[in-house]
Amino acid sequence: MPADLFPFVRSFMKSARAVGAIAPSGRQLADVITSEISRSVAPVIELGPGTGVFTRAMLDRGLEQEDIALIEYGSDFVRHLQIRFPNTHIQWMDAGWLSRVELFGHGKTGAVVSGLPLLAMPPKKVMQILDGAFTHLRPGGVFYQFTYAPVCPIPRAILDRMGLKATRFGGACSNLPPAAVYRIRRRPAGMLSRNGPVARLVDGVAG
Ligand SMILES: C[S@@+](CC[C@H](N)C(=O)[O-])C[C@H]1O[C@@H](n2cnc3c(N)ncnc32)[C@H](O)[C@@H]1O
Repeated sequence: MPADLFPFVRSFMKSARAVGAIAPSGRQLADVITSEISRSVAPVIELGPGTGVFTRAMLDRGLEQEDIALIEYGSDFVRHLQIRFPNTHIQWMDAGWLSRVELFGHGKTGAVVSGLPLLAMPPKKVMQILDGAFTHLRPGGVFYQFTYAPVCPIPRAILDRMGLKATRFGGACSNLPPAAVYRIRRRPAGMLSRNGPVARLVDGVAG
């Protein structure tokens, strides 16, 4: 069994729902979801990196480990990531707390790459994660999300409420299972308000 599979299998056996996949993503999906990542968008936040398949792909695209913050709450994955990518900024935490942490010394990020199983999460949790991500993203910054579903894993009502727009921009047919990748951006006239109803709703959600 490849070394990468050990933490995956251990985590899957502890909580299949939290892992949300039957195997780490394949190289094709990693290539698609990181296809717009380059040094010009650094630094980058990765949510739910698991064994680090997307992290590796971002390093192959020229990012330095220091350019990447990894947000992961599976302890087996965190230990694996610390060994594999010792100079990345690893945060052992729930991605729902993203708005409360400082990353890269207040510098804003150009992209968030997410491997989180959003479909398995309640709507308030999804909003909390998006709110945190867009707090760290600079204007024009992009949130990348993959899904095994035939539609965007973020419901239309949430996108509308948060002033976001999702566009499917690629697929990975050879992935197990096949996956699609979405680009999520702020709508030009729908900037997220930290004081608006979304912020109040999200602030009321426990991690
Ligand atoms: C579908 S796996 C994806 C792993 C990796 N990105 C890949 O594509 O192979 C989901 C990952 O998200 C992590 N995860 C799930 N919920 C999380 C949360 N609320 N906060 C942080 N990480 C979470 C899991 O531990 C797991 O590593």
